[in-house]
Amino acid sequence: MPIAQWSDAYRTGHQLIDKQHQELFQMVNELHDAMIAGNGKQIVGDTLKKLIQYTLQHFGAEEALMLQVKYPNYAEHKKKHDELAAKAKQIVEEFKTGKLVISITLSSFLSDWLRHHIKEEDMAYIQYMRSTPAAAQLGG
Ligand code: FEO
Repeated sequence: MPIAQWSDAYRTGHQLIDKQHQELFQMVNELHDAMIAGNGKQIVGDTLKKLIQYTLQHFGAEEALMLQVKYPNYAEHKKKHDELAAKAKQIVEEFKTGKLVISITLSSFLSDWLRHHIKEEDMAYIQYMRSTPAAAQLGG
């Protein structure tokens, strides 16, 4: 059973964002599986790196959309992204230096963060986008 289980409850209705979220769920599961399978540091590290890079790319895409529609809670949403990005940077550093062993705590944290963030912050800005005339041009 994957640690991050996708369901329609996470579907925002925005094609690109939903595609990216599904990819993120898959990557969290890959990290979890690599860790459970006892894969070596290199494989787990590469999987983690790939997940973080994609997460940052996704955050960038969302932030651009929010700016385009002048989303009033942009700063608050970006703060959530920045906090996770800072934590991710710290995780990678600690993993590299051997201070951190990737465990179920990490995949479980990432899965929880992603699920809650989509349902709360992401749903809110997508809903706002829908209520603005500019949304029609942004694939909403
Ligand atoms: Fe889909 Fe705000 O991250």
